[in-house]
Amino acid sequence: MRKNIVAGNWKMNKTFQEAEELIDQIVVGMEEMSLKCEVIACPPALYLEMASDYAEESRIKIGAQNVSEHDKGAYTGEIAAPMLASVDIEYCIIGHSERRKYFHETGEQLAKKADILLDYGIKPIFCCGEVLEEREKGIHFDVVRKQLTEGIFHLNKDEFSNVVVAYEPVWAIGTGKTASPGQAQEMHAFIRNLISEKYSKEIAEETSILYGGSCNPGNAKALFSNPDVDGGLIGGASLKADDFLKIAASFE
Ligand code: PGA
Repeated sequence: MRKNIVAGNWKMNKTFQEAEELIDQIVVGMEEMSLKCEVIACPPALYLEMASDYAEESRIKIGAQNVSEHDKGAYTGEIAAPMLASVDIEYCIIGHSERRKYFHETGEQLAKKADILLDYGIKPIFCCGEVLEEREKGIHFDVVRKQLTEGIFHLNKDEFSNVVVAYEPVWAIGTGKTASPGQAQEMHAFIRNLISEKYSKEIAEETSILYGGSCNPGNAKALFSNPDVDGGLIGGASLKADDFLKIAASFE
């Protein structure tokens, strides 16, 4: 059975002390809850080792927000997959729209990032999604198909079975505008169908496809109750333990 997942993308927020407080609150909160999903926190890279120590003693899983496509060398400021693996990081977000937009990440680069993560036993959380103009033009399905094709459809079946997909319509990220449950379900079903055509029905059924974009405690239940929405990648609402845990408790 495929996993329900709620992952918090903290982006570039929190000091070390605040990050430790947040992870502590999430971990303590989770102890009292019987959750029907896996919970992942993706703090800034500087705090991954601290967060990873929490993961050793609890059910929380830790993800990075980015990785270099190279495994070592003269790439000032970058963080490599073996470094993440050396502090037991289980997941890594790749292809977030902010990285595509501000850091000009290309499909080719993302394919290399997916490869290197899998080489080091780290599961990619691969983000895809259209901008508003593309939705208005009616080309959102083509855009998402292209992103998946360039970024992860070169993987073989075994590799692909370790990938989590996150559909994040860019117009919904940090804007307070959420995709309607119907819009999310429509795109998630489309993505699952593409995976089925490319790999197999079984692999498609096993793949977790998360929704991201202004997901909050008020709308999570309606989004997650769709048959093809297996959880969320949460930005703003992951920065408060209460809100994040309410979202994680939204599975029926
Ligand atoms: P948001 O961000 O929940 O703040 O819209 C989601 C994301 O960018 O992953």
